[in-house]
Amino acid sequence: METTYVMIKPDGVQRNLIGEIVGRFERKGLKLVGMKAMVPTEELARAHYDVHKERPFFPGLIKFVTSGPVVCMAWQGVEAITVARKLIGATNGRQAEPGTIRGDLGMDMGFNMIHGSDAPETAAFELGLWFPEGTMDWEKTMTQWVYE
Ligand code: RTP
Ligand code: MG
Repeated sequence: METTYVMIKPDGVQRNLIGEIVGRFERKGLKLVGMKAMVPTEELARAHYDVHKERPFFPGLIKFVTSGPVVCMAWQGVEAITVARKLIGATNGRQAEPGTIRGDLGMDMGFNMIHGSDAPETAAFELGLWFPEGTMDWEKTMTQWVYE
C-alpha cells in the first residue's frame, strides 16, 4: 500500500472541477485518507515546490498556487503514487493523453489543475508538509471488491 499527496490547484477550483476530479480518484478504487481545502501560505507553497526554486517559472508558480483555494488530498492504494500520476497525465494539457485529467480537461502547462507526488520520498515529504496532523485510518468496505 502507498499513500500519495494529490492537490487540486486554484485553476481547478475556479473552474468548478473539484467534483469531476475527486470522482475520478474515487471511481478508480483509491481510498481517501485525507481531504481539506485552504488558501496556501507562500511558505507552504515554496516548501512544496522547493525542487523548482531555481527555475524561471518558480515565482509565477508560487503566485498561482497561493492565488486561491486548493484542495489537499491523500489517496491510498496499491501503487497509489504511480496510479495517481497516470490518472493525472502529462504536465502540459495539450500533450496529455485523452482519458487523463489534464488530457481531458486542460490546455496549458502552468494551469494544469492538479498535482500528484512523483515518488515515495516526495509523497512522504508532501504528506508531512500538507497533513502535519496525519491522515485517516479507516476500513473501506468496498475495498474487498477492488482487489482480488
Ligand atoms: P506537479 O508537480 O504540479 O504535479 O506537476 P508535474 O510533476 O507534472 O510537473 P513538474 O515538473 O513537477 O512542475 C511543477 C509545476 O510547475 C509548472 N511548470 N511550468 N513553464 C514551465 O516550463 C513549467 N514547467 C513546470 C507546472 O504547473 C507544473 O505542474
Ligand atoms: Mg512535480
